[in-house]
Amino acid sequence: MIIVIDGPAGAGKSTTAKAVAKKLGIQYLDSGALYRALTVIYLESGKDADSFFKKLKDKDITFKYTDEQFRVWLNEKDITDKLRSSNVADEVSTVASLLKSRERVNELMREAVEHDTYIAEGRDLGTAVFPDADLKFFMKADVNERARRRYEELLEAGEETSLKKVKQNILERDYKDSQRKTDPLKQADDAIIVDTTNLDFEQQVAQICSDITDKLELP
Ligand code: DC
Repeated sequence: MIIVIDGPAGAGKSTTAKAVAKKLGIQYLDSGALYRALTVIYLESGKDADSFFKKLKDKDITFKYTDEQFRVWLNEKDITDKLRSSNVADEVSTVASLLKSRERVNELMREAVEHDTYIAEGRDLGTAVFPDADLKFFMKADVNERARRRYEELLEAGEETSLKKVKQNILERDYKDSQRKTDPLKQADDAIIVDTTNLDFEQQVAQICSDITDKLELP
């Protein structure tokens, strides 16, 4: 079974999806983290597309949500700590716009959901990756609120940045994510919309959990 949450950066997808997964006893999958992992490979390849595609074929990519963190390994090396760095954030939209990147990430996700019940979050899951998902949500929030949340997250992680820079980065990513030709950020027609601008965390989680338990019989 697969439940998806799509939406722009900073709408609250990750924290909400993790809490929902914990509450309902299902697995959590962060597709953005997989694009970030591919970006680590891209940076290791000196941002050269050919060398990146070659490495992409050779690398074994594994992931698991454990100890409240979505961890990713490249050839058994844990690279989780690199995923949220500014270097990766600056390049991830470029990497996510490449068809070969999308094919690889989609393949990893589809393999995973064959074996378990997942709540997965991303940009195109309800439209391109899992058009027949059992339930679809689309989370959105005002850009200033999204920037504020991501800024606090980065401060907590010890990154030096400014609110202005974070907002700029979000606006650029929104633009690139929604304008790219391959599988852009898009709301599925049959998605339930959750606007989190004025919702607190508990309210978001409660709303999504009750929609899921009302509509689905979880295994
Ligand atoms: O959710 P995030 O900020 O970790 O996502 C990182 C990048 O990956 C973001 O620029 C959009 C891209 N992405 C995507 O293109 N498709 C997805 N399903 C998930 C993320």
